[in-house]
Amino acid sequence: MCGIVGYIGGRQAAPILLDGLQKLEYRGYDSAGIAVLGDNVIKLQKKTGKLIGLRAQMNESMPTSTVGIGHTRWATHGRPSDANAHPHLDCSGRFAVVHNGIIENYLNLREQLISQGHVFRSETDTEVLPHLIEELYTGDLVETMQRVLEKVDGSYAAVVLSLDEPDQLLAARHDSPLVVGLGEGENFLASDIPALLAHTRRTYILEDGEIAVLTRDRVQVLGRNGQPVEKQIYTVKWEAKQAEKDGYAHFMLKEIHEQPRAIKDTLSGRIAAGDSGVTLKEINIPEEQLREMNKIFITACGTAYHAGLVGKHIIESLARIPVEVDIASEFRYRNPLLDRNSLVIVVSQSGETADTLAALREAKRKGARVLAVTNVVDSSVAREADDVLYTWAGPEIAVASTKAYTTQLVCMYLIGLYLAQQRGALGPGETAEIVAELRKLPGKVSAVLENGSDIENFVRQYSNCGSVFYIGRGLDHAVAMEGSLKLKEISYIHAEAYAAGELKHGTLALIEKDVPVIALATQADLFEKMLSNIKEVKARDAVVVAVAMRGLEEVAKEADQVMYIPRTHQVLAPVLAVIPLQLLAYHMAVARNCDVDQPRNLAKSVTVE
Ligand code: F6R
Repeated sequence: MCGIVGYIGGRQAAPILLDGLQKLEYRGYDSAGIAVLGDNVIKLQKKTGKLIGLRAQMNESMPTSTVGIGHTRWATHGRPSDANAHPHLDCSGRFAVVHNGIIENYLNLREQLISQGHVFRSETDTEVLPHLIEELYTGDLVETMQRVLEKVDGSYAAVVLSLDEPDQLLAARHDSPLVVGLGEGENFLASDIPALLAHTRRTYILEDGEIAVLTRDRVQVLGRNGQPVEKQIYTVKWEAKQAEKDGYAHFMLKEIHEQPRAIKDTLSGRIAAGDSGVTLKEINIPEEQLREMNKIFITACGTAYHAGLVGKHIIESLARIPVEVDIASEFRYRNPLLDRNSLVIVVSQSGETADTLAALREAKRKGARVLAVTNVVDSSVAREADDVLYTWAGPEIAVASTKAYTTQLVCMYLIGLYLAQQRGALGPGETAEIVAELRKLPGKVSAVLENGSDIENFVRQYSNCGSVFYIGRGLDHAVAMEGSLKLKEISYIHAEAYAAGELKHGTLALIEKDVPVIALATQADLFEKMLSNIKEVKARDAVVVAVAMRGLEEVAKEADQVMYIPRTHQVLAPVLAVIPLQLLAYHMAVARNCDVDQPRNLAKSVTVE
């Protein structure tokens, strides 16, 4: 959702900015631009389209300078165009700004600034920032920025470059992520850590309301009251290599194959020896609150929401507490019935999704306890929740989420078992059985990955189809929803997921000869019913590919092709069943020549509403 970078130091800024943007391109790729300080002028280079276009343009005239800012855009206000690309300048060309977020009151501000004589060159909300700075400039950029931010509503991570104060960069954040990278004689800014790793692992994670002033030798952070803040250095533990493709054709394929390792890391230290239960030291819900807890809400967006749907089944069946699952953008506005006996679980890979963060704040406002499941350490969601369970999936770069989803599922098992334990809802035998199976999950995921080529034949035949339907019952329905989203977002094929029993109430009308139906059949107690639903679509000449658990081989009599997952406790089947669906979406996208890692119109980490 837009990536921003900044550099001030002794080296040439432009190549550092471009390399940083490359690492952030997953956040948006509608246009890119950089601004550096030249001799008494801010030099600007902007280009519609991916970064590669800007690089080609700049190869002809790489500006020399040791301070600059850059941006890669996911368009919200104003279509992708050179004019709407960041950085944006004020009228005099003395201030350049890059911004991630949305200035909600920009129309009023813009009108006011126009009446004061400012001339706007873009349709963006961002452009009000350099004009406001120009209008309010006191000769002190920090003081000016404080005054500007008082006038602005909305979300922002913004970096300002000023001709009048050329030996500093100024950054501010509110509801959009921003990290300072600490170097020797040089300092960096970026929306996310991968852009910094080539230079430093020592970082400050900025918090809402903070302003950072970067010079070559110093970083000063000021709080809301303008007073200096003593920041803790956060040292990044993962390797730069983890954010590289490492020989894979795409990040998505690499991340699919990282799932056995990622799941192992999610479980590490959280399963008690002898399979006697789980230990979640990170959760500190007071005993009394645990006893009184009468309802759980799970709220999230997209793939994380789908993890929540699986979570509902898991927690209800293990801990016997009622669970509601809400899309975060709905939850935040529907006045949910929450009180201090409610637990709200927010699920977010990035920990920065605007709607999820707003849902979290709404839950806290109403007195609920909030547990975050997130992948990004110290993200906004992690900082604002009462308890945090990290997924430890490692950096996820592909826009389509894979390992973040399966590790979120694993967290749902851990939470379900934890709550069951605390409330005495599960006998020791069943706990031990599930924990023992959880331990085996990484190996079983590897086994599914080894059989991944089973899908290629289907892909060859159906990569030009117009629609794919995904059906399943119970947990399989939740997984079907994730499979269908994966296919839509990266291959641009229309896909729909249905509770298999619901198909005959309308959608069956769309099933005709050769329409592909992916049927999930991993739940033994629903198997007979599922088989009937497969027969229904076969009777309309659909082509059925089943994803079934070993032991349910009878499905082969009805389906055209079956991809088997190893036997496991049926509650754990979603982790295995989703793997063939991820591979199916991936190979379909490759066969259709789609941009797998950066699908059109999308971006990772949606920090706007
Ligand atoms: C789809 C996908 C998105 C995200 C959603 C929430 O593959 O990745 O649907 O799941 O935008 O993002 P997070 O989890 O960062 O809150």
